Amino acid sequence: MTSPVRKAVFPVGGLGTRFLPVTKAVPKEMLPVVDKPLIQYAVEEAFAAGIEDFIFVTSAGKAALEDHFGRNHQLEDALAARGKAAELKVLQATMPEEGRFSYTRQQQPLGLGHAVWCARNLVGNEPFAVILADDLILSQTPCLKQMVDVYNRHGGNVIATMAVPHEQTARYGVIDAGGVQANPVPVRALVEKPAPDEAPSNLAVIGRYILQPEVFSFLERKETGAGGEIQLTDAMAKLIGDQPFHGLDFEGRRFDCGDKIGFLEANIAYALARDDLGAAFAERLKEYAN
Ligand code: UTP
Repeated sequence: MTSPVRKAVFPVGGLGTRFLPVTKAVPKEMLPVVDKPLIQYAVEEAFAAGIEDFIFVTSAGKAALEDHFGRNHQLEDALAARGKAAELKVLQATMPEEGRFSYTRQQQPLGLGHAVWCARNLVGNEPFAVILADDLILSQTPCLKQMVDVYNRHGGNVIATMAVPHEQTARYGVIDAGGVQANPVPVRALVEKPAPDEAPSNLAVIGRYILQPEVFSFLERKETGAGGEIQLTDAMAKLIGDQPFHGLDFEGRRFDCGDKIGFLEANIAYALARDDLGAAFAERLKEYAN
């Protein structure tokens, strides 16, 4: 019997320097894809995977995130007075049941591993998911739901993977599956940002994880890795061998919304996929095709 995955951690402590100047006063996770902020896509994906408790690891300047998921009585009253029922329904989706959302602060941007460690007391001694909102995934079945299905079969730890061009391995954590071709595939080792000639594969780790709480004991050591940061990949790598550890090459398309090109592409893909906008937007895009 595996314990169910009930909690998800959303590390939103990064500085988002690649998006300056907008990220000076607006958290990167509040950037909209069409009309919804990145963080709301992440929360909806977690909800669809059965997550009950949502834990945000924030930093200075991220108050807009908490406001986004809080009530705004003035706005609600104004919409009600104007009979805007559809807009009120849109607002409903941003208001979780009280007590389901928790916020804790990462006091220094020491890396993703450190951000996850900051959530240790809120997670406690149970398996948990981690979702990076800047990795946006358009899929038939929500990516985290696909991973929970694998977790329910295999237990242990499950990470999302994606094949990337070999010359790009230095941008990602990369898995070593010992040449085994399977999906999900048992992971034998993990390497953070390997040079292409040192990469054990071209299967990159994407921002979705299901982890066992033992990972906190390795994060606790605060060892720095690539880029001088406390890397989640390094702590996860230490679980391999002691616990089941699988990589899932998920169904769906991932957009790196932490990068300008990926973010712009996500806006196009999500707008084209919308029933209310897709056809009209496709028509307009033709003007830019050349
Ligand atoms: P990134 O590597 O994209 O860093 O973090 P960043 O600071 O957000 O953005 P740039 O590179 O300066 O533009 C990957 C994920 O890890 C989180 C980020 O919020 C993002 O979701 N993170 C990173 C933290 O929560 N804390 C950290 O110290 C570092």
